[in-house]
Amino acid sequence: MDRLIIRGGVPLRGQVEAGGAKNAALPAMAAALLTGESIQLHHVPQLGDVKTIIGLLNHLGVSVERGDRQALLFRADDIDQHEAPYHLVKTMRASVLVLGPLVARFGRARVSLPGGCAIGPRPINLHLAALEKMGATVSLDAGYVEAKASRLRGARITFDGQTVTGTENVMMAAALADGVTVLENAACEPEVADLAALLSRMGARIEGAGTPTISIEGVSHLHGAEHEVIPDRVEAGTFMVAAAITGGDVTINRCLPSHLEAITEKLREAGVLVEEADCRIRVLGDGQLRGVNVRTHPYPGFATDMQAQFMALLSIAQGSSVITETVFENRFMHVNELLRMGADIKVIGTTAFVHGVPILSGAPVMATDLRASASLVLAGLAAQGTTTVSRVYHLDRGYESIERKLQSLGADIERVAE
Ligand code: EPU
Repeated sequence: MDRLIIRGGVPLRGQVEAGGAKNAALPAMAAALLTGESIQLHHVPQLGDVKTIIGLLNHLGVSVERGDRQALLFRADDIDQHEAPYHLVKTMRASVLVLGPLVARFGRARVSLPGGCAIGPRPINLHLAALEKMGATVSLDAGYVEAKASRLRGARITFDGQTVTGTENVMMAAALADGVTVLENAACEPEVADLAALLSRMGARIEGAGTPTISIEGVSHLHGAEHEVIPDRVEAGTFMVAAAITGGDVTINRCLPSHLEAITEKLREAGVLVEEADCRIRVLGDGQLRGVNVRTHPYPGFATDMQAQFMALLSIAQGSSVITETVFENRFMHVNELLRMGADIKVIGTTAFVHGVPILSGAPVMATDLRASASLVLAGLAAQGTTTVSRVYHLDRGYESIERKLQSLGADIERVAE
């Protein structure tokens, strides 16, 4: 297991590029199951989670080839399996994204139930209720959910709570259903809109993706397509916080500032200068951070995937901050590690009360969640002394070459294999 060793206190300076979005690449790759023709995706980041879904697609019979640079070519013309096994779903909950495409195209799917994970229970009841409304028979057997339907039919579905992968799963299923499906209270995340853009290129008829009401007119078959994955707003946001927390000056290229507005707004409120251009964003920190209150929300609100990183920042901001997590029940596992670095944070339920301290001190730390691990790297970059972050494989699930990108900005960080 690798560790990252960070000697903190260096203001980051320079330019860095955001990679393709993990949470857009994963559903796009699952969408390859909807057709027997080739799907070519560009800007697919090289991440642990991407490897996991390639493993799952291979297991189902999809051929996956690497193209130039970050392109991947998928062909699902010889599917002989309809099951997502426990060991793959357990490693990555997004494996559940194969459920909708498999039922829609092959009439059946068997997917291991995800169960709980490091950030709280992650049920898929909303995915299943929607598929049932579209005519699927859903049953549970030995920890697996089985869905069957000779042909799905369009339905009016009002989600009882916003779900990103649920919206994506049902949108993919509806693309091949008989008739029109209308999704109400759908997730509005840019990754949902990006999936809709790919599906439309494949011949799907979708309107309203990116808004709470999505209408999908099913077609009898979908065809091959080429698509470029949108930039990763969470990776870009993490570099924005890295610039701010070290009092540096960093430009993030190939990102979409319109997807980062909630982060930009909070950074400005905290006293950080943020300049936005077409496809890049510059963040200048002068080390004078102010406490701010943060409440996570589905998009366009402040993303839960940026909450941990912001907590690292606010732990050295002047004054008090209140951070409320409303999306997941248990997403504060970074708190105890930040405390070990000298932060002053109290958690009551889903609210964290942060009193800024002048300085964090380096320490050995680890976390079992991707974004929590990212917050520890950020804290280490700002801390006095040396921080060792263990269990780096969590970071590798969602950040491509994080240490190399940070090194290019001047950070004193190295990866050590154990
Ligand atoms: N929920 C239910 N029932 C469902 C589905 C969700 O109760 O059937 C609840 C969840 O328990 C949670 C809330 O609804 O409390 C939102 O969950 P959602 O389904 O939106 O999460 P997800 O689709 O499993 C995606 C991202 C996560 C991100 C969340 C929220 C992907 C592959 N994953 O997860 O990303 O935190 O949306 O924005 O898109 C990450 O990248 O680190 C990450 C965890």
